Amino acid sequence: MSQWHDYFKELAHKILGYITDETVASLYYQQLAILAPSREDREILAQLATDEARHAANFREVYRQITGQEARRSPTSPPKNLSYQQAIRQRILAESNDFMKYGDDFLTAPDMYLRSLFYKTGASEAQHGMSLSLLLCKPQENLRESKK
Ligand SMILES: [Fe+2]
Ligand SMILES: [Fe+2]
Repeated sequence: MSQWHDYFKELAHKILGYITDETVASLYYQQLAILAPSREDREILAQLATDEARHAANFREVYRQITGQEARRSPTSPPKNLSYQQAIRQRILAESNDFMKYGDDFLTAPDMYLRSLFYKTGASEAQHGMSLSLLLCKPQENLRESKK
């Protein structure tokens, strides 16, 4: 009994942080989409922004279910003063950390609903990391093509 009480108390606390992180990530991808060098890259980044907003909304729902309260909205601002390439690199690392983080939550989740949520969110973050690495490859490919 108290084991689950402690688990859900800790989970509610962690989820507040996840909501902030996912919201910041969504805003960040919206900003990066504006800087994207091609329409295709812009669409990839816009899709990532949509995914992160969905992750935040899913976690808001979990928070509501666990605590019976709305998650408070903390002020969020994405990192500034990074170049496009630096930002993409930083996000690849962040996405792979998120994949590991949600994997740990998946392993300790007590029910199918939470297991499914953490599995799907982690899989989505892994996919983001892979999509972002494509964005880094492209300029070099373009360079190679332009030298032909
Ligand atoms: Fe996410
Ligand atoms: Fe992500």
